[in-house]
Amino acid sequence: MLHKGLFITATDTEVGKTVITGALAAAFKQRGLQVGVIKPVASGGVRNNNGQLVAEDATFLLKATGLDETHRKVINPLCLAPALTPAVAAVESGITIDIDHLESCCQNMLNSCELGLVEGVGGITAPIWADYLVADLMKTLALPIIIVARPNLGTINHAVLTAHYARQRGLTVLGFIINSWQDETCGVLEQSNLDYIKRLTGLPILGKFPHSNKISVPQAKIGNLAELANHHLAIDQILRLTEEDNSHE
Ligand SMILES: Nc1ncnc2c1ncn2[C@@H]1O[C@H](COP(=O)(O)OP(=O)(O)OP(=O)(O)O)[C@@H](O)[C@H]1O
Ligand SMILES: [Mg+2]
Repeated sequence: MLHKGLFITATDTEVGKTVITGALAAAFKQRGLQVGVIKPVASGGVRNNNGQLVAEDATFLLKATGLDETHRKVINPLCLAPALTPAVAAVESGITIDIDHLESCCQNMLNSCELGLVEGVGGITAPIWADYLVADLMKTLALPIIIVARPNLGTINHAVLTAHYARQRGLTVLGFIINSWQDETCGVLEQSNLDYIKRLTGLPILGKFPHSNKISVPQAKIGNLAELANHHLAIDQILRLTEEDNSHE
């Protein structure tokens, strides 16, 4: 299975997977790459004016990649209403999740572009359907992972556990991206968090993405995503690591 892709997970829900997926996609696109994105399953969907259940994540990713509404189903094949982990949100909605279908939607996206980004749900062990977890999807797709982490207190534990679990499952972690980094208020707490995460995992920090008032997933505000990504994320290193990992397949 030869394809180039990256799986974006996080230490928890609401850490910034969508913002970072959008930022990476925008920066890769600016480098001239044909980029694909997918959020295979979202929960906490909202009804739009047409009564269609839509995911805010998909709206944001459509904007970040410059695609229109007609691509919504490709970017987000399954959207569930309850704001619960997908396995439970589906049961609550009387829906059976077809894992084979979700996997082939991801494969199709990966096969149709030069570099595909898959956004997970919640963290690495979030249940998608019954005992099938986000890590199982990563394993099937055989993609390397980037872990998005918070800069603040508690992040060492979440970051280290996520990386160890991924490795225990035989997955490749390329490194961490710290989201909502604020240079002005950064002190010994934030700096020592980074040092410990690097030391305890042996993995690189691939960027510190700033907090920006011009960015909002619920309001579909993408701000200057590409510019921020180019400035604050190690785009060339990420591309090189992705290339190296995918060539091992
Ligand atoms: N760098 C940033 N600057 C400003 N706001 C941000 C930034 N990163 C994240 N946010 C906000 O924080 C919230 C969570 O971010 P995001 O939706 O990207 O997280 P997520 O990990 O994708 O969550 P989910 O698990 O629901 O998919 C959103 O409201 C988003 O707008
Ligand atoms: Mg998201």
